Amino acid sequence: MGTTNHRQHPKHAELPDLNTPSTSYSSTSISANSNKKKWSNILPIFVALVVIGEIAFLGRLDMAKNADIVNSWADSFYNFTRTTSSSWGVEDQVFEPEDSCQAWLEKEDYVAYSRDFKQEPIFVHGGDEEFKTCAVGCKFGFEAGKKPDAGLGIPQKSGTASVLRSMESAKYYAENNVDMARGRGYDVVMTTSLSSDVPVGYFSWAEYDLMAPVQPKTESALAAAFISNCGARNFRLQALVALENANIKIDSYGGCHRNRDGRVDKVETLKRYRFSLAFENSNEEDYVTEKFFQSLVAGSVPVVVGAPNIQDFAPSPNSLLHIKEVSDVDSVAKTMKYLAENPSAYNESLRWKYEGPSDSFKALVDMAAVHSSCRLCIYLATKIYEKDENNAEFRKRPCKCTSGLQTTYHIFVRERGRFDMESIYLRSDHLTLEALSLAVNLKFKSLKHVPVWKTERPESIRGGNELKVYRIYPVGMTQRQALYTFRFKGDSDFKNHIESNPCPKFEVIFV
Ligand SMILES: *[C@@H]1O[C@H](CO)[C@@H](O)[C@H](O)[C@H]1NC(C)=O
Ligand SMILES: *[C@@H]1O[C@H](CO)[C@@H](O)[C@H](O)[C@H]1NC(C)=O
Repeated sequence: MGTTNHRQHPKHAELPDLNTPSTSYSSTSISANSNKKKWSNILPIFVALVVIGEIAFLGRLDMAKNADIVNSWADSFYNFTRTTSSSWGVEDQVFEPEDSCQAWLEKEDYVAYSRDFKQEPIFVHGGDEEFKTCAVGCKFGFEAGKKPDAGLGIPQKSGTASVLRSMESAKYYAENNVDMARGRGYDVVMTTSLSSDVPVGYFSWAEYDLMAPVQPKTESALAAAFISNCGARNFRLQALVALENANIKIDSYGGCHRNRDGRVDKVETLKRYRFSLAFENSNEEDYVTEKFFQSLVAGSVPVVVGAPNIQDFAPSPNSLLHIKEVSDVDSVAKTMKYLAENPSAYNESLRWKYEGPSDSFKALVDMAAVHSSCRLCIYLATKIYEKDENNAEFRKRPCKCTSGLQTTYHIFVRERGRFDMESIYLRSDHLTLEALSLAVNLKFKSLKHVPVWKTERPESIRGGNELKVYRIYPVGMTQRQALYTFRFKGDSDFKNHIESNPCPKFEVIFV
């Protein structure tokens, strides 16, 4: 690491034009192809320079463990030069085989899709939603005589997808259960479940000032509760009673066990309390409402009755207390008392307020930086293109190219929340997860890519211009898989995926 600065190449700014030409979905790949002709004479020289540029680029990535890969790439670069230059003897042909593969793939794999969403946006019947920008043409509303791609509710005419959109818990509204909704004929399910097709969460940077500063805890009661009614399809009332019985003093502003005047600003009030009872009305995976996020805004440690996977929503480890069942109440009460008496231990649970939340929390909340209606359009447009990709023409794409001992694989990547794909190429001798991550990083860096969440996140946790890959996963996975459950089982699993899925498409989450 850090030894390769002298190799940095002045032509670096031209990297995107030469080495990274195509976005498969957008029309730019056509122009890249035609530019290509003009370049072809001097291409070999440039390619050699670009390879050096890439090595320099990789060399500047600041993860020590990357040094080995960089070095081995550098090694094979020099080894390649040594072994091939003797047989060809012409310096500017050294990299011809390698690059001709990329150039060839770039040309051969380009097949036009049936629809250009800029000309013909995704059109959804229902609502009248306005959002500033969407990565794909996207319109909501009603228009007589125009066949929509999708409509909210069922039934829809054939060829129009029916969309279920709801933020209610499936425990109350069983029809919101993803499988049940599909059974009833919905094509696209949008619920709080991260396993639904297009999740609609309560969370977002825009809605909640999550990094609002912590204020002094001036109330003598340990916790505040805003529970509007005592009824619920879980044990939240028993939990409340059990906490009171364990001598936790609770100021209750809601209809349930009220002992304070409820006409107050909820978040401002919560700020004065060490703990906030974030008791949902049902315990359902991913069903996490404003009760929880308002507690985070207030810097009042949430005591949660609700989603069994609430830890997936924690801004950092040890930032919340979870009452999984009534029998947990005593130990949670004990912890509350301990934290209340130990300011530095208590302060630990709010550490994320000072140092920023975990990457996993950022990656979750960033999802909402793109409006759910826009994400619906991206979802639908992706399905439409996937249909195209099953056509004979797409099936004829080579997607890989073998030259000598090396096979070059053509891989497509886009950022979550965007639509257009970028091309990257991995060689069979570097078909590893680490190489994928580096190649993605390099590609998006060279495009001076700005993450889709950049203007949404609070300034203090926006970071600089660096790009950090958090997850890369095949397009089509749910967010539950993408964020929590999916991982390639090592390099061989990844290799297998690449070899068995021609022109595979991935999404990347940057944090
Ligand atoms: C480069 O060649 C040297 C000497 O032939 C060899 O020891 C080394 O392993 C090679 N490196 C790579 C990455 O092939
Ligand atoms: C809590 O910790 C932060 C740093 O992590 C510090 O700035 C702050 O003053 C601490 N607050 C209290 C009340 O100790």
